Amino acid sequence: MWIHFDAMEYLAPAKINLHLRVGPRRDDGFHSLYSWMVTTGLFDTLRLNPAESADWQLSCDRKDLPVDGTNLVIRAAAALRQAAIQQGVDPAKLPFVSVQLRKRIPMGAGLGGGSSNAAFTLMALNRFWDLNWPVDQLNLIAATLGSDLSFFFHQPSAQCTGRGEHVAPLPSPKPRSVVLILPKISMPTPPVYKEFDRLGLGREEDLVPPADLASWMSLSAEQLLPRLVNDLEAPAFSLKPELGALRSDVEQKLRRIVRMSGSGSSLFTLLDSREQAIGAVNQLAGDSRFTAVVVPLAPQPQEPC
Ligand code: C5P
Repeated sequence: MWIHFDAMEYLAPAKINLHLRVGPRRDDGFHSLYSWMVTTGLFDTLRLNPAESADWQLSCDRKDLPVDGTNLVIRAAAALRQAAIQQGVDPAKLPFVSVQLRKRIPMGAGLGGGSSNAAFTLMALNRFWDLNWPVDQLNLIAATLGSDLSFFFHQPSAQCTGRGEHVAPLPSPKPRSVVLILPKISMPTPPVYKEFDRLGLGREEDLVPPADLASWMSLSAEQLLPRLVNDLEAPAFSLKPELGALRSDVEQKLRRIVRMSGSGSSLFTLLDSREQAIGAVNQLAGDSRFTAVVVPLAPQPQEPC
């Protein structure tokens, strides 16, 4: 079989949760959410080629990332292939691929790097195999792989509900720049939710869009930051007090509000311009507990999804 195929390259962005409200634990062990998520201009790169053998191949420039069948990229590819076969697609039309992953999004950081990689794998293979499945159909597979994948079908700005898999686009926020503070602390998600439960947190009534949400989109960074909440900060800082201390120190140094993304450990603050963001990063120079980067907030996606 001869396949006309140039390598496809995708920029898979990191997300931040600008606003994250979490409800009580559900019977299935997950928590219902209300979150406003946006992408940032921090990207992993996925390069896909036809595989040379009848199996998936994954390589990564970060040697501490497993590249076997446990990696979400391979799990996503295998799940889509399986679903397509079940739908009656001839397996010969679903050739295996080799994926080269260039990792720039830190892991265990609450930035959704693995989810972004997996969501882009689904979108890439949907094209490569000419399945042309609509996003809702891809989403059924995405939701089996993790709560954060679905957002990436609707980037750069969207609200996520359910356990994260119900996504509706939102306008992008007005601030153009984000300072990402990347502590040298890894924060696995399940213990943070467990601590959330232990602290008795989570109220159903918080799981609604803020009444004035539409007006949030036109607020400056200084106006928007005080409205943003992350209900996972309390359990994350309870588990890792050093992260809470770091957040306080950065807030004091910058004299502005700093929030955590997802279940941590990354922190962020918003700024109206890149110049202001660079000024903020310069103020943080010399602190060895973290690295800080300036990236665009909610950059336009590489191509419509
Ligand atoms: O879906 P994902 O793999 O991101 O979830 C990781 C863990 O985070 C889950 O096993 C669960 O403990 C917790 N979680 C949750 N409620 C959510 C999302 C995640 O309790 N909405």
